Amino acid sequence: MVIGVPKEIKDQERRVSCTPAAVNQFVHEGHTVYVETNAGLESGFTDEDYKEAGAEVLDNAADVWAKADMIYKVKEPIESEYQYFREDLIIYTYLHLAADAPLTKEMVDKKVVGIAFETVQVGRALPLLKPMSEVAGRMAVQEGAKFLTKPQGGKGVLLQGVPGVAPAHVVVLGAGVVGTAATRIAVGMGARVTVLDVNIDRLGEIGDIFLDKIETLYSNNFNIANVVKDADLVVSTILIPGHKAPQLISEDMIKTMEPGSVIVDVAIDQGGSTDLTAGRPTTHTDPVFVEHGVVHYAVANIPGAVPKTATQALSNATTRYGVAIAKLGWKEACKRYPELVPGVNTAEGFVTYQPVAEDLGYDYKDLAELL
Ligand SMILES: NC(=O)c1ccc[n+]([C@@H]2O[C@H](COP(=O)([O-])OP(=O)(O)OC[C@H]3O[C@@H](n4cnc5c(N)ncnc54)[C@H](O)[C@@H]3O)[C@@H](O)[C@H]2O)c1
Repeated sequence: MVIGVPKEIKDQERRVSCTPAAVNQFVHEGHTVYVETNAGLESGFTDEDYKEAGAEVLDNAADVWAKADMIYKVKEPIESEYQYFREDLIIYTYLHLAADAPLTKEMVDKKVVGIAFETVQVGRALPLLKPMSEVAGRMAVQEGAKFLTKPQGGKGVLLQGVPGVAPAHVVVLGAGVVGTAATRIAVGMGARVTVLDVNIDRLGEIGDIFLDKIETLYSNNFNIANVVKDADLVVSTILIPGHKAPQLISEDMIKTMEPGSVIVDVAIDQGGSTDLTAGRPTTHTDPVFVEHGVVHYAVANIPGAVPKTATQALSNATTRYGVAIAKLGWKEACKRYPELVPGVNTAEGFVTYQPVAEDLGYDYKDLAELL
């Protein structure tokens, strides 16, 4: 198979899908890999590194897209990339389609096979979302701590406090991978931490990890309203896999927060989980907006800020399935690795992932009928 690795062009996206080590794996198995020039530069990999690993480096994105049977990238294609879509092209990347009706329409109309990292599922686990969630959770608290400082528009609170002065109160909504990583950093920085989830088992597990260093609370409207009011930093990390995020933090709740408090909405890539961030993602260039005195951070590609760490973590997790698709073709790969089946969001002009079909009003096509 011919694999194309374009340079990411989303704002401040500095990751690349594929390390030279991963290229080497594809080439070793007899595949051809085209990498766009400078695609890996900001992750620490030069064109020479890719050539040594066996890739061919091409000067422009159009050639990479045109030659490839499978485009292997990081972020969902943006509008200027839609022109490259064609029937049966495989796009293996993060897609977040429930939050992106125009992209879904393009992929369906042009009969692209869209395999989304974030919906590949083993049991309840999302193994290709996990490495970036580990990064985003850690970054969320780091960024939140920065925006709590006065020069950044925050209320002027130090997360860890000092002897004789209380630490900041960090509220983490959702105790999954992002939530656990955020909790780890918040606890490590000495904040007072409250974690909410609807999954009581998850609350038990996170309670066992951090023992008496955190409080856990069942997530419902009443409890969210109570803790948000008192929070210095809220990190929202909820996910209902594949679906658009629900807005659990209402505008009325935000109005009760002290001016200069910060909300980091990590769930923005699934559409946003607060009334004010929903449909209003920010970028690394312009990461926050202030409304009702509260600082809102809603960057949809948080790991893009730490590409040297994030690229390796992503490539480690995704290459294995990329190699399987290249070797077997996407249909056989789905039969051999059933966890790939929910990853296929669009194929042959259909939406083949039920949550996306439901949220965007498409007829759902069971992938089994196409395999
Ligand atoms: N912005 C970014 O750059 C970035 C990067 C990585 C991940 N993410 C996003 O972060 C989100 C979380 O990812 P994850 O890997 O932690 O997912 P996860 O499935 O591990 O965790 C999500 C948690 O949310 C909980 N939840 C669901 N409904 C809830 C509710 N009503 N109240 C409280 N908790 C609820 C679930 O029980 C689960 O524990 C996803 O939307 C993911 O796409 C964003």
